[in-house]
Amino acid sequence: MSKKTMGASARSSGVMILILVVFSSSLGALVRGASQGLGASFIFGDSLVDAGNNNYFSTLSKADMKPNGIDFKASGGNPTGRYTNGKTIGDIIGEELGQPNFAVPFLNPNITDRQISNGVNFASGGGGIMNATGSIFVNRLSMDIQIDYFNITRKRLDRIMGASQARDYVMKRSIFSITVGSNDFLNNYLLPVVSTGARISQTPDAFIDDMVNHFRGQLARLYTMDARKFVIGNVGPIGCIPYQKTINQLDANQCVDLANKLALQYNARLKDLLTELNENLPGATFVHANVYDLVMDVITNYDKYGFKSSSKACCGSGGQYQGIIPCGPTTSMCQERDKYVFWDPYHPSQAANIIIAKKLVDGDPRVITPMNLRQLRDL
Ligand SMILES: *[C@@H]1O[C@H](CO)[C@@H](O)[C@H](O)[C@H]1NC(C)=O
Ligand SMILES: *[C@@H]1O[C@H](CO)[C@@H](O)[C@H](O)[C@H]1NC(C)=O
Ligand SMILES: *[C@@H]1O[C@H](CO)[C@@H](O)[C@H](O)[C@H]1NC(C)=O
Repeated sequence: MSKKTMGASARSSGVMILILVVFSSSLGALVRGASQGLGASFIFGDSLVDAGNNNYFSTLSKADMKPNGIDFKASGGNPTGRYTNGKTIGDIIGEELGQPNFAVPFLNPNITDRQISNGVNFASGGGGIMNATGSIFVNRLSMDIQIDYFNITRKRLDRIMGASQARDYVMKRSIFSITVGSNDFLNNYLLPVVSTGARISQTPDAFIDDMVNHFRGQLARLYTMDARKFVIGNVGPIGCIPYQKTINQLDANQCVDLANKLALQYNARLKDLLTELNENLPGATFVHANVYDLVMDVITNYDKYGFKSSSKACCGSGGQYQGIIPCGPTTSMCQERDKYVFWDPYHPSQAANIIIAKKLVDGDPRVITPMNLRQLRDL
């Protein structure tokens, strides 16, 4: 080798080492010191928190069309696959806890190492705890699959940070938030045709039993992959969404009894499950988010929160509450988007999401137990 090329290669390997040092020390800084905000947010669940996974496969559950996202600043008002006009509850919680950027959809093929270190979103519109849930949409990611995908992310974190730092980072600096269960009722149990007769062959007790047992197994799988800080939302008042009110031709202040009863029955079992896991899984904290009571309060006292309506969808068409046809380019859209609790027939508006998310971050034990999310982050 000539002197000249040796000098060049020594120089370039010097540059490589410098890059590696800068790179690994910045990732090291991510891991050290819990005081500077949340490390990673790993988000699981359904369309309430999907940030675009359903854009990447063919499905009847999609939100990548206008005017969805019209108030989402990061995309300049373009649709992202979020089922709302702006930020989801998961986005807002991340922001409040100091996450440097929104958790990116797992299925985005261009996701970088740095983005992964700030969190990944596995949620999917139409998804549920049970595998059969959401089959009406043909494709969706159920919880079992979302957790398989986390297994892939978990291995990538090992490669990025090294196994021992990655383990520490996942255990201490990451929050696992799970918003799931609504579709197990709306798009499974309450739809006997697609649930292969579950409602005919199963009592509510038996179906909810199945749900809780599946969910226990799913949470335990996450625990084996080092998840320790969990927040689990219970099922909201699904009998009060514009879709249910419209198809059942209810008055503005009425809700569908059966749907809400099923939600409450599941929610009581979920609370017990989380108490059990807090006792049985060493080092883990399961925070229970009482989304049902929180959303019910906003729906009932909508005027006190500054809303004009909690029965009509801002964007959608059909019936008294714009509650049949999901939001899209051909449906109607309200003028004052911040004055509606519901963005579309199923999902809250960004304005409602902000109220809900802030109560989960800094709220008291009426809505979030045994601690709020700021306390969970700093644990
Ligand atoms: C990923 O990167 C490729 C190549 O740069 C680009 O064409 C594509 O649009 C990107 N996809 C997403 C989802 O960002
Ligand atoms: C659900 O589907 C996943 C992935 O296809 C599979 O691993 C799992 O065993 C299924 N669960 C049940 C209860 O059928
Ligand atoms: C993660 O994937 C590996 C295969 O790559 C498998 O052996 C392991 O059981 C999986 N872990 C969980 C918790 O699913």
